[in-house]
Amino acid sequence: MNRKPDQLRIAVVISGNGSNLQAIIDAIAAGHLDATICCVVSNVPNVHGLTRARDAQIPVETIDHTTFDSREAFDGALCDAFSRYEADVVVLAGFMRILSDVFFERWSGPTLNIHPALLPAYPGLNTHARVIADGGRWHGASVHLVIPELDAGPVIIRGACPVERDDTTETLAERVHAVEQRIYPKALIWLAAGRLSVQQSEVLVDGLRHPDQGLDDPADEKPGKAQTP
Ligand code: GRF
Repeated sequence: MNRKPDQLRIAVVISGNGSNLQAIIDAIAAGHLDATICCVVSNVPNVHGLTRARDAQIPVETIDHTTFDSREAFDGALCDAFSRYEADVVVLAGFMRILSDVFFERWSGPTLNIHPALLPAYPGLNTHARVIADGGRWHGASVHLVIPELDAGPVIIRGACPVERDDTTETLAERVHAVEQRIYPKALIWLAAGRLSVQQSEVLVDGLRHPDQGLDDPADEKPGKAQTP
């Protein structure tokens, strides 16, 4: 991958398929995102995301969490990799591990995560099933800054999609994935262009709330609320 010395260096951390990773690779290849992926790290060996990275000539590392004595030791190894590849930003893209204090002590750069729900609604696991069970009419995904509290960091961008009457968790997940692949590159485009700032625990774009953050509609902000169009 060609890169300029001043480009943002992104370390992408995965556990599986890597469709979000692919969306970021594609955004760079298309010239929309001025950044370079300095490494892709997976905690699970032989996942498809690693193949996607190799196909794009991106350095890969497998850091298998099952070979470490503690969560802290694993997180230390992750941070060592970020230093080795001189990462500026860590992008969690389907990384299925909770980060320990060691991560937050050792890694001082920004860390982004994508969550399959309209945060602050539906933090945690099984979001699609929970939205369907609640009779929600809108669902989606959020890119947020990572803080020690799970799925609770300031939201950078959200993308919504409708829940259809006959949706299964699979059909809804597919729709949400399409949203994710649209919003993750967009968040990184903003970051790479230096357009993001954090003020009073809120992410601003060019110093203002952006409509794509979906934060101005109080109906969106009620955790667990079945949302109306
Ligand atoms: C995505 O749905 C993401 O929101 C969640 O894990 C999934 C990863 O998908 N955290 P992929 O590996 O990027 O295809």
